[in-house]
Amino acid sequence: MAIKYIENRNLWILETKNTAYCFAKYKDGHIKNTYYGPKLVFESDYPGIENYIDRDYWLWDEELPVRGEGNFVEHNIKINFEDGTRDVVLELKDFIIKKNELKMIYVDTHYNVQITTVYNIKEEFDLIERHQIIENNNENIIKIEDAKSGTFYIPNKKEAKINYLTGMWIHEFQKRKEPINEGKKILESRLGKTSAFLNPFIAVDYSANQSNGEIFFGLVKWSGNWKIEVQKQLYERIAVTMGLNEWDFNIFLNPGKCFETPEIVFGYTNQGFDYMTHCLHSYTRKKILPENNSDTQKKVLYNSWEATLFDVNEENQKELAKKAADIGIELFVMDDGWFGNRNDDSKGLGDWFVNKNKFPDGLTPLIEYVNKLGMDFGLWVEPEMVNPNSELYRKHPEWVLHFPNRPKTEKRNQLILNIAKQEVKEYILEFMNDLLNNHNIKYIKWDMNRYVFESGWPEKNSEKQKEIWYYYVKNLYDIMISLRKNHPEVIFENCSSGGGRVDLGIMNFYDEVWPSDNTNPFDRQYIQEGFSMVYPTSIMRSWVTDWEGKNTYPLDFRFKVSMAGSLGIGSNLKEFDIKDIEIAKKNIELYKQIRNVIQHGKYYLLNSIYEDNYQALQYTKNNDTVLFVYINPKALNNFSSYNIKLRGLEEKSLYKIEETGENLSGKALMERGITIYPEIKIDAAIRKKDLFTAKLFRFRKDEKK
Ligand code: GLA
Repeated sequence: MAIKYIENRNLWILETKNTAYCFAKYKDGHIKNTYYGPKLVFESDYPGIENYIDRDYWLWDEELPVRGEGNFVEHNIKINFEDGTRDVVLELKDFIIKKNELKMIYVDTHYNVQITTVYNIKEEFDLIERHQIIENNNENIIKIEDAKSGTFYIPNKKEAKINYLTGMWIHEFQKRKEPINEGKKILESRLGKTSAFLNPFIAVDYSANQSNGEIFFGLVKWSGNWKIEVQKQLYERIAVTMGLNEWDFNIFLNPGKCFETPEIVFGYTNQGFDYMTHCLHSYTRKKILPENNSDTQKKVLYNSWEATLFDVNEENQKELAKKAADIGIELFVMDDGWFGNRNDDSKGLGDWFVNKNKFPDGLTPLIEYVNKLGMDFGLWVEPEMVNPNSELYRKHPEWVLHFPNRPKTEKRNQLILNIAKQEVKEYILEFMNDLLNNHNIKYIKWDMNRYVFESGWPEKNSEKQKEIWYYYVKNLYDIMISLRKNHPEVIFENCSSGGGRVDLGIMNFYDEVWPSDNTNPFDRQYIQEGFSMVYPTSIMRSWVTDWEGKNTYPLDFRFKVSMAGSLGIGSNLKEFDIKDIEIAKKNIELYKQIRNVIQHGKYYLLNSIYEDNYQALQYTKNNDTVLFVYINPKALNNFSSYNIKLRGLEEKSLYKIEETGENLSGKALMERGITIYPEIKIDAAIRKKDLFTAKLFRFRKDEKK
């Protein structure tokens, strides 16, 4: 049983495969968190409330910290009642255990408001999901001013370090680690979408490495304004609070109505970062990603953006499609520029009809051509946006987010449609349904290229306008629910100027992610390592491009770096010579053989690019293991060899190394490792280009020991 209630101790125990999370009722009626850590043997092993130290006049360790009664932990809930009362005082009314779900039901002692904390135990992933439901049973409207999803408490030790992902456009998913000091560390977005600046993920480790040590971690499943607060005082535990950002937020709740917060998910391990990653990858693949996709293998795609930019037409796309098919591409995606009066980024967004100058007979001739070549067809759209220079904006200037007496800030010449409005939502659904009903489109790259600045919704009264942040995201999710239902065969890619909207909320509806517009293979190693620490490699689309010219990095190196996720190609194929074509064909063929392991295997970070001049990545699924080693030039005379030790193999099994023909035991591969000797090149002129080297090794376990 994952959830137990020990009546004589007033103690709730929530257990996963390896962890336990406990809270208990204190004599004053408050529910206090008493334990989070490894699963123990007996129920009596878990600390209850017996030895709880009262914090004098502050409330700490509250399982549901609300604004009220001297609660010192970052509030989960704040409500403004009609009479001006802004405190919430709760008592536990009841609790319900249903298999792996626990509902703790609290009521306000005076106002008729009920708050239910819902825990869902994901035993096999060592994770707990949590959200809150606020129910207004009053006769008056209440104003919710803070609605976070939960707080968990972790040990306050000197060695505790916070790990997070930060960045910006073309530098997304950069790993950071720092000590935790007294006060609050805040990670958040106030930009209307998840943002490339910070990702809604946090991990706190206690001197952990990849394969050992304690880590507590959590994520917010939300694609709008989110917040994670790490709060350290002199008490023995640090509080981590996660959920919707209370900045510029409120929700008016009518009598008889409920408000549900988004979910958060959190976990604990004492087996290091690899284990955390494995939990998150398999949870995301099995429980978050759209069902039809969690086990399927991603096709190798070609995207024409970098080859033709906005200058797409039937002829040049066909030419590229032919070349793409010849090297083994399975999915051909046409990017921006096919619609409206769209010749650059200054106009046309919002006018979702085919540009007849570029495609005189519509898209069908191109799609049929692509299909005849044996490939699926995909298309770029950016439905949430509009250029002021467009037919749509001229017809409906009132559809954009804005404050009437303020300038409408344009970014990339575009404004944001207020999709919280029913008519805007219907417009998007109508053109998307038309597009997908009338064409054989199997893949949509859904872009969203700016942040929300003027979040005005002029039709609403001033205080109600703040609801926009929430309803924008809610309606985006509703649009996606409807599209996925109507078009179950279509794969959706989530792009937001690269990785600007990557979170577990959006992943319920999108099958894959474009992590960054930056396709420089060296920078990509940083971006991909950060991304893969949290999110599955199967959804990490990675293109081979000519980002810094054809000759800056060897083509084979670029391919191998992109093969660490779902392989795509964005190079201008018209510029490929015979040698390039050979390299491309060989690598695409090889990728098809190993992609199941890469996309669905266990991922191990053997050597971090953040710490050294080489990166080593291992993927293991059943009997197959793939190892990538990327070596980046550090100094001209860098003659050192690289010793890589694999992980997670069976010590006594025999593994055949495809590339060398050697047979070694799992123990040898993990203890002795394999050693790579770089080619020594002393000529400075060829240093940069040629010294970027990628090695790939395939290991197959002999089934008979
Ligand atoms: C964004 C995306 C690119 C491309 C362009 C098209 O910048 O991140 O991949 O689709 O839009 O305008």
